[in-house]
Parts: sequence; C-alpha cells; structure tokens
Amino acid sequence: MKNPIDLRSDTVTHPTPGMLEAMMNAQVGDDVFGDDPTVNALEEKAAALFGKEAAVYCPSGTMTNQIAIRVHTSPGDEVICDALSHIYHYEGGGMMANSGVSVRLVNGDRGRFTVNDVLNNINPDDVHHPRTRLVVIENTCNKGGGSVWHIEEIRRIYLACRHHGLKLHLDGARLFNALTETGEKPLQYGELFDSVSLCLSKGLGAPVGSMLIGDMAFIKQARRMRKLFGGAMRQSGFLAAAGIYALDHHIRRLKEDHRRATALAQTLSGLPYVKEILPVESNIVVFALQDQNSADTFMEHLRQNGILVLGFGPGKIRVITHLDIGDEELEKVMKVLSNLSGIAITE
Ligand SMILES: Cc1ncc(COP(=O)(O)O)c(C=O)c1O
Repeated sequence: MKNPIDLRSDTVTHPTPGMLEAMMNAQVGDDVFGDDPTVNALEEKAAALFGKEAAVYCPSGTMTNQIAIRVHTSPGDEVICDALSHIYHYEGGGMMANSGVSVRLVNGDRGRFTVNDVLNNINPDDVHHPRTRLVVIENTCNKGGGSVWHIEEIRRIYLACRHHGLKLHLDGARLFNALTETGEKPLQYGELFDSVSLCLSKGLGAPVGSMLIGDMAFIKQARRMRKLFGGAMRQSGFLAAAGIYALDHHIRRLKEDHRRATALAQTLSGLPYVKEILPVESNIVVFALQDQNSADTFMEHLRQNGILVLGFGPGKIRVITHLDIGDEELEKVMKVLSNLSGIAITE
C-alpha cells in the first residue's frame, strides 16, 4: 500500500524537512566516551526542563522504563502499577526478566489509580512478602485510551511514597500530551517523581529515542544499566538532534492532534457499528465494535481504502492522531468510516 493514512500509532511519523536538516547538520562524537556534543546537549536540555540534575538518552521508552525499574529495585522486590500499564502489558515481561521483581496490579480508572490503591497494596514488613519498593504511573495511559492524570492525585501518591520509603517512576511516553491538556509544566512533574521516562518518538515526532531523567546518582546507575542492556550508542548525536528539534518545535502542535482525535470520536459516535468509545482526552481513540467478531473485517475494509488502524483486544480498535495526520487525511478517514455504515462489516 502506497502512502497509507497510518493511524496505528504516533510512532509511525516521518521526520519533517526541518528535523532532517537538524539531523544532517548535527555535531557528533562517540557518546560511549561522553564525546557527543549533541547527545550531551539533549540530555542537559531534558534534565533542565524537569528541574532534575541529569538525563540519559536511550534508544526506546521500553529501555528507559526497564532501566528505571532495574535501578530502583532489587530482585524479589514488588512494583505497584496499574493493570493497564505498558510496563506490564507491552514490555515483554521485562520487569520480571530484567529486574526479577514481582508486580502488584491495581485496577484504576482507565489506568489512573488513587493514593488509597497504593496504600492498600503496600506489603507489611514481614519476610513472607515481597518488599514493596516502587510505584509506576503512566501519563497519558495508552491502554486507558490516552487518559490524563490529575496532578493532585499524583501529589498524594508522591507523599505516600515518601512516607513509606517507595520510589516513584513516571512512564511519560506521552507526558506532553497530558501537559497540553492540563497546562501544567514539566517542572511540576520533576518535583514529584524520582525518575521520568519521556519518549521523543511518539507525539513529538522524532524517529528514535527516549530520555530517562533523574538525580545524578540515579542517572549514573542508569548509564551503567544502559550499557548492560546494550543501549549505549556511538555517534547518536544524529538522532539526538531530532530529539532537540522535537522538543523545540513539536510540543505546541500537540493540541492539533487532540482536536483531530476528538473530531474522529464525534464521527464514530454517530455510526451504527460502533458500540462504545472511551472518552477522548488526548490523541488516542479506543472504541469497541457492536459485533465483537467484526474487527478483522472492519480493519480490512479500512486497509482497502488506504487506512491503517490497530486491533486493541477483542472487538476493539485503537486510532492515534499525530504529526503526519492533517485535516485532509482526517476528512478522508471520516468519509470512509461514514460510508462503511452502509456495509455489513460482519460479511
Ligand atoms: C505508555 C508507553 N510507554 C512506553 C512505551 C515504549 O516505548 P518504545 O516503543 O520506544 O519502546 C510505549 C510505546 O508505545 C508506550 O505507549
């Protein structure tokens, strides 16, 4: 299929001409020796943005999350996270394989739990139980349909973590999508979390890369783990340049993605084959089809019309708006979706 309208994820974007130019002109060096000025600049920029001491540039958000879990815990410890969280569902069982931790899942509201969920799941200090050590929050929550956390609840969780000696990590793969909606600043998040993972390759539109941000001692350990995980790169300044460009140019435009996601959901809500749509809070739309068995046929109809979407569990579909989806693409998608209502998609 040539040039499909690809709504499967915001990871599918292509670098813009401006981003490509920044990449081509990057000053580089060997980052394993600490010699790459562009990587160093990106790390300093990310740390400053969150008011933290340091940051380390990694190939992926899976790696930044996995490194954070590894540094914060010891084998046999327990991590509290939501049942919908990416670290639990989509990182290949890495928490258990890389860090030897057990996981306590809590059932929040579309990925968002409360301080009471945390307090009710801290194990007693008793040799029978794994030692509760880390809480992980995902904002926005992907499997929750791009749901946005309230910072007041995060603050309550932060205070509880401090009181009970737990570390708090943010999977902020799409944090700037959340901040776009709330108007909060990254500095406010830097104050609340021991570590922050921020993806440059999702809504921000860079081809590769995630930042892990924290204090100096944490990042020193994180660098050791990045090497151990095979994620230390050489002239990665070419990629880091895309990350700097993304932070400088692609944050403000995220509201356009949110507007288009809301418009898509409005169209979907009027269609007879759509059963339910999760509330749209950012750039993700998750919806369920009336006929649970029709997802494959539905996706095939769209594919034949040059549109790609993602199956997201039985009878469920996820679409994500991003940098490469403008109003023209949006209109075409809406038209195709509306025309489908005349077709029995269970055929
Ligand atoms: C919430 C969340 N965290 C982490 C990741 C992992 O990022 P990566 O694909 O760069 O490993 C993703 C990827 O989609 C994500 O949605």
